[in-house]
Amino acid sequence: MNIGIDRISFYTSHYYVDLKTLAEARQVDADKYYLGIGQEKMGIPAPDEDVVTLAASAAYPLMQDGELDDVELLLFATESGIDQSKAAGIYVHGLLEMSPRCRTVELKQACYGATMGIQMAIGFVARNPKKKALVIASDVARYELGSPGEATQGCGSVAILISADPRLLAIDPESGYYTEDVMDFWRPNYRSEALVDGKYSTMVYIHALIESWKQYAEESGRSLTDFDRFCYHIPFTKMAEKAHKKLCRKFKVQMEAEQMQQLLEESLRYSRITGNCYSGSMYVGLTSLLDTAAEDLSGKRVGFYSYGSGCVGEFFSGVVQPGYREVLYADQHAKMLAERTELTYQQYEDIYHYGVPTDGGEYVFPQYKTGPFRFSGISQHKREYESLVD
Ligand code: HMG
Repeated sequence: MNIGIDRISFYTSHYYVDLKTLAEARQVDADKYYLGIGQEKMGIPAPDEDVVTLAASAAYPLMQDGELDDVELLLFATESGIDQSKAAGIYVHGLLEMSPRCRTVELKQACYGATMGIQMAIGFVARNPKKKALVIASDVARYELGSPGEATQGCGSVAILISADPRLLAIDPESGYYTEDVMDFWRPNYRSEALVDGKYSTMVYIHALIESWKQYAEESGRSLTDFDRFCYHIPFTKMAEKAHKKLCRKFKVQMEAEQMQQLLEESLRYSRITGNCYSGSMYVGLTSLLDTAAEDLSGKRVGFYSYGSGCVGEFFSGVVQPGYREVLYADQHAKMLAERTELTYQQYEDIYHYGVPTDGGEYVFPQYKTGPFRFSGISQHKREYESLVD
């Protein structure tokens, strides 16, 4: 029995900053961002947007299509948690009016959490083939103003339905994984911005890739030439390209620039204009690949490298299913991205400095244009959400 991804839906904020605007404010050459790290825009969440509204908005098309009716497991991956105790997925479960006969939990391991969620969901479906699991990755990537990481900020969420006989991607059973206790990127509970040892983090990312690949290759017997496409975790698009080059060099696989472009480019298109969305990043890459590839990918094998700082890496693979194009949300994604609003530098700073009140008072937040759900206020330390759809 094949198990894997049956539907995938992506959502990002309505607002973005063009990195040319940021470059001007930081007095650096815009090509450092556009070419050096391969990023053009960063998604900025509105004050009435958070990981819950991003997630519920990503999963909303699945709800409209009746795809959530058989879901009995909801795994919510995030490293931008809004509560130390209650799982953000429970708010989403409520907003999407899902059946109470459902397990819901939050998962955390930096950008790796959703991949663990998918592996757990596969185990759940293997045991209950008629049931489905919903894995949601939702994050806001936030660094200090003026720091090297600032240009890699972004936000977004991906809702991933896992089932037997999946219509999009059958996930292969082999996997390679790697854990090491390192401090390359972290965010203590008392901070809202991540701390990062940037250059070191890029080295650890590649080291964990090589170690994960070794185990995957041993278990599967496949080589790097057995893949038609690759999806990497994308903190910035240049990172994925560099990592693939390094992996090929290490395992002595010749890779011309043109081939490299063919293997990776489609998976990088969305991230280049939305920025890092941590746990969802690699799955934004998969969405971008499936939505935008001109070639029919049916039957093609895709290699995935998921990386979460701290760190855990995992290499796995899957095969795109015939007829996959009929169940994509490509048109909605294109419309959402085309209709976003650009922020000025001052608007970006104003939103950046906006902080959710913590004094337990009563607050109603002004409404920005953010999508089907919004974070409408706080009352007695309880977050309140509002559905803007019938
Ligand atoms: P930096 O140190 O300011 O940048 O930030 P730089 O000076 O190294 O320049 C970047 C590149 O632009 C260089 O190319 C420059 O040569 C080039 P490279 O040498 O790397 O090939 N450049 C130019 N190119 C064209 N025209 C120009 C120009 N000027 C310079 N005029 C850094 C880079 C990655 C450190 C920073 O963005 C950062 O700290 N980012 C955050 C950390 C990060 O994304 N790490 C990635 C691996 S860890 C990870 O992926 C996990 C993560 O998602 C978190 C999680 O798991 O939760 C982050």
